[in-house]
Amino acid sequence: MAIIAPSLLAADFLHLADACTMLNDSEAEWFHLDVMDGRFVPNISYGPAIIDAICSQTTKFCDAHLMIEEPEKYVEDFYKAGVHQISVHIEACKHLHRNIQQIKSFGIKAGVAVNPHTPVQLLEDILADIDTVCLMSVNPGFGGQKFREHTISKIHQLQEMKLRLNPNLLIEIDGGVDNTNAARIAAAGANVLVAGSAVFKADDPLGMIAELKRISS
Ligand code: DX5
Ligand code: ZN
Repeated sequence: MAIIAPSLLAADFLHLADACTMLNDSEAEWFHLDVMDGRFVPNISYGPAIIDAICSQTTKFCDAHLMIEEPEKYVEDFYKAGVHQISVHIEACKHLHRNIQQIKSFGIKAGVAVNPHTPVQLLEDILADIDTVCLMSVNPGFGGQKFREHTISKIHQLQEMKLRLNPNLLIEIDGGVDNTNAARIAAAGANVLVAGSAVFKADDPLGMIAELKRISS
């Protein structure tokens, strides 16, 4: 059964407290928090102050996905905001191992996010040091994009590496996940499903989360 991680990027920003309440009442285990800097990706979202406010409204696992250059400058700020995991992009890190050690030095979990064009084989020498791989199934920067089917073969490749190098690794899939593809994605080996639009644009967000949970088991 996959962990469901709704992305607050698709929530109504004027009513974030309502979104937090809804997610607290839902079967979702994680809050997925997308940070964009207008440099690594062509969009700007929110930063530590907003995330601090969101984290204060929940006891669920807060998962920060940093789509930013030079993440080492902000890791401490996000730790202080209350997140439980920080994922940095392999494409944004010149010294990935150092970045991972920095995140872990705060006693929180560390993840690596991977763009659609980046081969998972590049994770070979970091996999044993991390908790999560966030496989992007769209080009990062915006919610509401279509799931890239190529991701399924990358999950299979990563699954093989996981068994060999780090059986506790979580494989997280981010982008375009909905109730038409969640079952296949989970069956391929995904442990965490991020869903933004599918949840927040649904007529019944709580029902959609429950459905994603059920079909990914
Ligand atoms: C994309 C973000 C995703 C996004 C998911 O850059 O990393 O987390 O918010 O949104 P949907 O589910 O709408 O693709
Ligand atoms: Zn994300």
